[in-house]
Amino acid sequence: MIVLGIETSCDETAAALVDDQRRILANVVLSQIEEHAPYGGVVPEVAARAHLAYLDGVVRRALAEAGIGLDAVDGIAATAGPGLIGGVAVGVMTAKGIAAARGLPFLGVNHLEGHALTARLTDGVDFPYLLLLVSGGHCQLLCVEGVGQYRRWGTTIDDAVGEAFDKVAKMLRLGHPGGPLVEAAAKRGDPKRFVLPRPMIGRPDCDFSFSGLKTAVRRAVAGLPQPLAEQDIADLCAAFQESVAASLADRAKRAITRFRAEHPTGGAFVVAGGVAANQRLRARLSEVSGAAGLPFVAPPLKLCTDNGAMIAWAGLERLRLGLVDGLDCAPRPRWPLDPTATAAIGAGVKA
Ligand code: KG4
Ligand code: ZN
Repeated sequence: MIVLGIETSCDETAAALVDDQRRILANVVLSQIEEHAPYGGVVPEVAARAHLAYLDGVVRRALAEAGIGLDAVDGIAATAGPGLIGGVAVGVMTAKGIAAARGLPFLGVNHLEGHALTARLTDGVDFPYLLLLVSGGHCQLLCVEGVGQYRRWGTTIDDAVGEAFDKVAKMLRLGHPGGPLVEAAAKRGDPKRFVLPRPMIGRPDCDFSFSGLKTAVRRAVAGLPQPLAEQDIADLCAAFQESVAASLADRAKRAITRFRAEHPTGGAFVVAGGVAANQRLRARLSEVSGAAGLPFVAPPLKLCTDNGAMIAWAGLERLRLGLVDGLDCAPRPRWPLDPTATAAIGAGVKA
């Protein structure tokens, strides 16, 4: 069984082919960083137009790299949300068009489910597992019990963690997207020079908060001679990253305890989403997981940030279970993984 997956929910135009032996036959990701650079962030209208211009070529390249034609494909999956609606609509319409023309099943995939199931593609992880989803629009702890079966145990009450990285990068004039740039600068910095808050530590729930930390960075910046020296930037990045690491580790520890209480054996602690590409955060989270005796699983870096393989895989998992969508499936800007979880105040809509 082979599925084509299309991802257009943010600023990556991506297409991939995966099979049911967990092989990635092709994984093409075209980043729009150049298009959005002049604006210092992703502009929805610019993104939608770029997806429209590039998606056909990206799909064609994926098929060429896999060395197959559409006749070898068993299903067409696309991100149907959550995300920037113009881009999502481009991906969904393209996928539906191919599916209709070829008489193939269409699968409208939740972008977050793509991130959530990636560890099953890369490491063959069995259900249930605990998932920390950390991206540009989300910061959630979820108990993953099956395809389409998610229980949200914690979420951010303000900013998503990737958003905090991006905003700090902007304050320090590092560029966009900020995560990798903050991580690189932090390597040259002293995490102890600035004392920043470590949000939510010790709270009995599994929620997150990053806006106070972001404000603390802004205050520290304002108290320094301008323009900032290279070393000031590096030290601030290191302190910020350590605070995020400490906060994520504390929240994860709490969720791991709950997971173990509910599932005394088996399981794993999985991280997913763009921020999971951060090596320092991975190291801290792996320590917490190891200390609790829970295997730690983090997908390879290029499968942490947005890509088509995760959508193709989630589509394949759904197709195997007969969870096919009709051509009336509508793109949606918001789409929580756990529909029973109430929306947190101020939480982002992007994935
Ligand atoms: O999942 P993703 O590719 O896109 C969505 O948000 O759906 O995540 C992108 C986010 C951005 O905020 C980016 O700054 C962050 O992931 N990110 C990182 C790193 N690489 C990407 N954050 C921290 N450290 C990194 N190395
Ligand atoms: Zn994402």
